[in-house]
Amino acid sequence: MDISKDMTAAPRTIRRDDYTPPPFLIDTVDLVVELFADSAKVVSRMAVRRNPAAVAKPADLVLDGKKMDLLSVSLDGRAAAHEATPETLAIRAVPDRFTLEIATRLRPQDNAELTGLYKSRDIFCTQCEAEGFRRITYFLDRPDVMARYTTRITAEKSLAPVLLSNGNLVERGELDGGRHFAVWEDPFPKPSYLFALVAGPLDCLEDRFTTRSGREVTLRIYVRPGDVPRCDHAMESLKKSMKWDEDVYGLEYDLDTFMIVAIDDFNMGAMENKGLNVFNSKLVLANPETATDLDYHSIEAVIAHEYFHNWTGNRVTCRDWFQLSLKEGLTVLRDQQFSADMGSAADARIDDVRRLRAAQFPEDAGPMAHPVRPDSYIEINNFYTATVYQKGAEVVRMMHTLLGPERFRKGMDLYFQRHDGQAVTCDDFANAMEDASGVDLAQFRLWYAQAGTPDLKVEGRYDAAARRYTMTVDQSLRRTPGQPDKKPMHIPLSVGLLDGAGRDLPLKLAGEAAAGGTTRVLDVRNPRDVFVFEDVPEKPVASLLRGFSAPVKLQAPRSEEELTFLMAHDSDPFARWEAGQQLGARLILDMVAARKAGKPMVVPDLFVDAIRRTLDDQRLDRSFIADAVTLPGLAFLGELMPEIDIEGMWAAQQRVRGVLSQQLADRWSSVYDANHGSGPYRFSPEEVGRRRLRSTALSYLSTDKGEAARRRAVEYFENAKNMTEQVAGLGVLAELGGAEGDAALGAFHERWKGEPLVLDKWFGIQARTPTGDTLQRVKQLVDHPSYDRKNPNRVYSLIGAFASGNPVQFHAGGGAGYRFLADQVLATDRFNPQVAARLLAPLGSWRRYDAGRQTLMKRELARIVAEKGLSRDVFEIASKSLD
Ligand code: TRP
Ligand code: ZN
Repeated sequence: MDISKDMTAAPRTIRRDDYTPPPFLIDTVDLVVELFADSAKVVSRMAVRRNPAAVAKPADLVLDGKKMDLLSVSLDGRAAAHEATPETLAIRAVPDRFTLEIATRLRPQDNAELTGLYKSRDIFCTQCEAEGFRRITYFLDRPDVMARYTTRITAEKSLAPVLLSNGNLVERGELDGGRHFAVWEDPFPKPSYLFALVAGPLDCLEDRFTTRSGREVTLRIYVRPGDVPRCDHAMESLKKSMKWDEDVYGLEYDLDTFMIVAIDDFNMGAMENKGLNVFNSKLVLANPETATDLDYHSIEAVIAHEYFHNWTGNRVTCRDWFQLSLKEGLTVLRDQQFSADMGSAADARIDDVRRLRAAQFPEDAGPMAHPVRPDSYIEINNFYTATVYQKGAEVVRMMHTLLGPERFRKGMDLYFQRHDGQAVTCDDFANAMEDASGVDLAQFRLWYAQAGTPDLKVEGRYDAAARRYTMTVDQSLRRTPGQPDKKPMHIPLSVGLLDGAGRDLPLKLAGEAAAGGTTRVLDVRNPRDVFVFEDVPEKPVASLLRGFSAPVKLQAPRSEEELTFLMAHDSDPFARWEAGQQLGARLILDMVAARKAGKPMVVPDLFVDAIRRTLDDQRLDRSFIADAVTLPGLAFLGELMPEIDIEGMWAAQQRVRGVLSQQLADRWSSVYDANHGSGPYRFSPEEVGRRRLRSTALSYLSTDKGEAARRRAVEYFENAKNMTEQVAGLGVLAELGGAEGDAALGAFHERWKGEPLVLDKWFGIQARTPTGDTLQRVKQLVDHPSYDRKNPNRVYSLIGAFASGNPVQFHAGGGAGYRFLADQVLATDRFNPQVAARLLAPLGSWRRYDAGRQTLMKRELARIVAEKGLSRDVFEIASKSLD
C-alpha cells in the first residue's frame, strides 16, 4: 500500500462559511471486515438517499476515501459507473435512493500514521476521529452524516480471539479454517468518526453498573494478557464517572455494555467511540509500583472525559469540525467539575488554570492563534488544541458562572431535549443556555469568534468621606492572525472586598437596596466599565478574578503588601494562590530586569516571610501548600515579558529557589521529616498532598547541590515505596547530576526496562533536565535500543519533553536544539504527520525571543517548509508560523 505522504502542492483551506448540508444521507451501514495477518478486506453496504435539506442536487455521489485499494463498487446489485481519485470516489448519476456496496483492501500492519485501521503490535484497532474512517472504506466522512452500523468481523481465532465493535454483540460463531466471527450492532445513529473496531489477543476485567433507572450495564476493560491486575483504578474511575453523571446532570448510560481497550501505540490520549472507548494504555494501566499520583489522577480524569462524551459528543454531536469545541470544551468542563468533586476543588481549579496559562495563553499569543470555533483550517488534526479544549471549557464555565448552577443545568436539559440524535453547532448550545435561562448571551458569543487573551486592567479608589469604593475596569484584546479589529467582550469578573482583618465585606453595588453576598460577578462589557460599591466602612483590599472567573490576563496595581495580605487571608482559595503567583512573578521579573542592568538580584524578605507563613499555616491542606510554595513556571513568566529572556528567568527563578532553600532550611527539613508517611499506597487527596509536599521540600533541600542534599536525595530515591516517590527522587538526582544522578538513572533503567510506560518516564526525566548537556544526552537517547520512533508515547516523552518541557535547554546552544527538533519533525513526518505536527509547535513562538534566536528558529521553519512531500499537518503549522 502507498503510505507516502499527502500531496501538498496546494493544500486547500477549508472554511466554516462554506458549510452546506450533505447532498446525500446514509441511513445504515453494514460492514464486513475480514482480518488477515497481512491485510484486511472491508465490504461496506450502505442505504443511501438524497438529503431533502440539501441545497444542491448533484448527479454524482462523491465519497471520501484514501490510502486503500478499491476492489469493487456496485449499486443496487449491479456494477456502477465510478471514478476514483487519490482522495475521492465518484459514483456517476445515482438515483434518489439506493444501496451501494463497496469493497476495499487495506494493510493495517503498514499503517504507521495510527489513523484508520492499524496494528499496535498484535492488536488490530481503529482511530477514526477526525477523518480516519475514509481510510477504511469510502464514505461521506463528515460528522453530520449519521448512520446505524452493524459490523461483522472475521479473523483467525488464534490471532484474534477477541473481536469488538460498537454497540451490542448480536452473534458470534466458528468458521472454517480456524477462523471465527462476531457481529456487533449499534442501535444509535452515529457519525463515522465514532466507529471503532478492535481485534486481537486481549484479556479483560469485568464489572457491573446498575443505572438509576435499573439498566444493568456490563463494564469491560480489555488489555494485553497479564495487565488485568493494573485495571482496578480505571474501573473504579469509570463507575464513579457513571454515577457522577447521573447525580449531577441526570445522564444515564444507554447500552448494555461499555468497553474500554488499552492500546500502546496511540496518537492522542483516548477516544470516545460509541460503547467502545479506545485508550492510550498510559491512561488505563496503573498500580502503585508503576504509576505516579499524576498518572492516577490523569486516568480518573480521562476515563471520565471519554465516558462523558457519550452524551456530550455522541448523543449530541458536531455538525462540522469547526464546532469541535461544542463537544470538547463542554466535555472538558464536565471532567473538570468531576475532578473537583472527587478531590479538592481548590487544587483542581489551580490545576486547570496552570494548564491554561502554560499551554493556551502562548497559543493565543502565537502564529496559530485561533478562535474557540475556528474559521478555517488546512488539516483538522491541527485543531485539537488547548484553545478548543481548555479555553473552550473556560467559555462554558463562564456561562455556568453567568447563569448560576440551576439555570445552567436547565440549559443543559434543554440542549439534550432539543438536540438528542442531532449534529449541531456551538450556537445551538448557546441558544439552549439563553432560552432556558433568559440570560442574554449575544455579546458573550464573541468568546467563540474572537481569538486572543483579553487584557483586563482593574484599578480601585476608596473615598472615605463617601464610604465608596470605585472599581474601574478596562479591557483590550490584541490583534491575532486574520483578526485585526476586535470588539469588546462580555467578561464575568468575580470580586470580593476584604477589610483590614482579612474578612470578606458584604457587597452593595450603587443602586442596590441592600448588601448581598461577599463575592459578586461583575458584568464587564465595555472598553471601560466603572463599578461603585457603597457603604464600604474602610479602605478595602480587593480580591479580583475569584475562581479565575474568565480566561484573561489581569493587571492590577496592587502593592506587594496587598498581595501578601491576600496570600494570607483571601477566602477564595484560587485568589489566595494567585496572589502568591503574582507576587512571585513580579519579583522574578524585577530580578530579570536587574540582572540585565548589571545590578544584583535581590529577593525581598517580604516574599520569604509570606512563604514561611504559608508553610506554617495550620488551616491549609498539604496540596494547597505545595501549590502555594511552587514558583510560577517559565511558560507563565515568559507570557508576562515583552521579549522572553530565558536565561534571565531561569537565573532569577533559581536565585529565588536558592534563597527560599537557605532561609527556610529548617522549615523544609521539618516538612520533609513530618510527611514521611507509612502504610500501603493510597490514592486519596490527603496522601497525594502529603507526597507532593514532601517531594517539594526535597527539591528545595536539594537546591544547593551539596553533600547532604545528595545523600538525602539518594536515600529518598532508594527507599521509594511507589512510583510517585521514585520519579520525584529521580528527577532531583538527574538535576543534581554527577555520579549520584548517573547511578540512579542506570538503576532505574535496569529495573524498569521491560515496562514501556515506566521507561517513558525515564526518557522524559532526562529530556527535561534543565542542567548539564541535555541535548547531547537526548541525541544519544534517540539511538538507545529502548527508543522507538514509531511509538508516540516514546516520541513525546523524549523529543516532546525536550522541546516543549525544557525551555532552558531547548533555547540554549546557539540553535542546536532547534535544528535537532526540525530534523526529528521531518523524519517523523514521513510516517506519522499528526505526531510530527505536534512536535513542531515550540518553533512557532520565534517572535517572542531575541533577534538572534528569531533568525535561528525561522531558519529551521523555512527548512521544513521547503521540504518536498510534506504532510498537510506539518505544512500548515510551519507555514503559518512563518507568516
Ligand atoms: N476525541 C478525543 C478526545 O476525547 C480526541 C482524540 C483521540 C483525537 N484521538 C484522536 C483527535 C485522534 C484527533 C485525532 O478528546
Ligand atoms: Zn474529548
